[in-house]
Amino acid sequence: MAEKSFKYVIVGGGVSAGYAAREFAKQGVQPGELAVISKEAVAPYERPALSKAYLFPEGAARLPGFHVCVGSGGERLLPEWYKEKGIELILNTEIVKADLASKSLTNAAGETFKYKILIIATGSTVLKLTDFKVEGADAKNILYLREIDDADQLVEAIKAKKNGKAVVVGGGYIGLELSAVLKINNFGVKMVYPEPWCMPRLFTADIAAFYEGYYEKKGVNIIKGTVASGFTKNDNGEVKEVKLKDGRVLEADIVVVGVGARPLTNLFKGQVEEDKGGIKTDAFFKTSVPDVYAVGDVATFPMKMYGDIRRVEHVDHSRKSAEQAVKAIFANEQGKDIEAYDYLPYFYSRSFDLSWQFYGDNVGDAVIFGDHDPASAKAKFGSYWIKDGKVVGAFLEGGAPEENQAIAKVAKAQPPASSLEVLAKEGLEFASKI
Ligand code: FDA
Ligand code: NAD
Repeated sequence: MAEKSFKYVIVGGGVSAGYAAREFAKQGVQPGELAVISKEAVAPYERPALSKAYLFPEGAARLPGFHVCVGSGGERLLPEWYKEKGIELILNTEIVKADLASKSLTNAAGETFKYKILIIATGSTVLKLTDFKVEGADAKNILYLREIDDADQLVEAIKAKKNGKAVVVGGGYIGLELSAVLKINNFGVKMVYPEPWCMPRLFTADIAAFYEGYYEKKGVNIIKGTVASGFTKNDNGEVKEVKLKDGRVLEADIVVVGVGARPLTNLFKGQVEEDKGGIKTDAFFKTSVPDVYAVGDVATFPMKMYGDIRRVEHVDHSRKSAEQAVKAIFANEQGKDIEAYDYLPYFYSRSFDLSWQFYGDNVGDAVIFGDHDPASAKAKFGSYWIKDGKVVGAFLEGGAPEENQAIAKVAKAQPPASSLEVLAKEGLEFASKI
């Protein structure tokens, strides 16, 4: 069986892999030293585009327009770039076995890839309703979104069921972004989720009330406090109805499900230390196994600012962790030291003409400020989270770049807050003083 050997291998070809490849090039990787092995058919791209501009009815984003690293304002790494740098891009190749002791990876065809140093960048996979044995969840047109092939299926379904009815299951990131884009595609959209408000992982009830009101205003019908308990199919095996646990039945031509993701660590189970569902790393993304690093969604790493360890499923961290790991690899080879990873959490989302950013930690008491009336023509508002007398998190909807920078500074500096009332009154002014 064929065997290939590389000094460095990245398993996974998503956001982290692309940013790691760029950092390898910056650090002077030599032709033939690095391989990126991906089960996807295309070179690393900016995944966030898939739930936004990729699905627009007009002027949709398409590759090669959003290969990494355009998302951070950098050069687009087209397939030719990898060739020029002598980086081997091994696409359409799923690794099915990893043996960290013998430093080898194997694909389904039995080909082996040997490495000296491995970066695990396998990201996450979607949770499926079939995993929970929901009746009828295998119907056609019940769709998920993780990779470009999923997005292409969605595009086809949107075309085939033009102006039809969509039910979106889940009230998180995918739920909110997909409901908006389906509405923009002129679908009748109903959104279903079990919690009392959307995005409960991050939003307070006040923040969520704005988005729910805004979505309703745009014609998205929100059904809370229940789940999809089954589906019926038509004669073609396509989804026809969504049965809700509370007894209601919704007609559907398309169902989009976003009920969370699971980090892809299974290849390495029992071979490497895990924590909080991910592969445990230090502040340089080194795992418990020598010469093996893990970055992006799969890494559980020390969050220096908060003195704990966390996993983060967002693009900013996937980019920065990849760069940190590659810097650490080269520093190690040169006997140098680099700074420990000191990450300030940064999440964002865009839908309709809305755009929010969040920095820091959403713990403690929260206070909302500004115009958060969904009926306003130009609503603009934010939130601060206060713990132990300090502002530890900040959220802003509709901020200008300098205003977003100001709230990022607040979350980093953690200034003292005299009272919730003062913060509510001062709003953005408080941030601009930091
Ligand atoms: P990523 O998922 O990007 O890459 C993993 C790669 O590994 C994939 O190419 C996969 O095929 C490959 N792979 C897995 N197993 C393999 C195997 N066994 N063999 C070979 N290859 C394998 N975040 C944010 O902050 N703002 C946003 O707006 C969005 N928007 C967004 C939209 C959508 C649709 C999704 C799915 C996600 C987002 N995110 C986001 C989250 C963000 O995209 C995510 O955190 C990063 O892509 C994580 O980067 P990774 O490289 O860790 O995984
Ligand atoms: P999520 O964790 O954001 O949301 C999952 C939601 O599923 C929960 O809020 C809940 O409302 C819902 N839910 C759970 N069980 C349910 C059930 N049985 N029926 C109905 N609803 C149920 O996950 P997601 O939205 O699926 O996103 C997947 C991944 O993609 C995450 O890693 C996320 O960070 C990433 N993503 C991020 C962005 C962004 O940062 N802007 C955008 C898209 C995707």
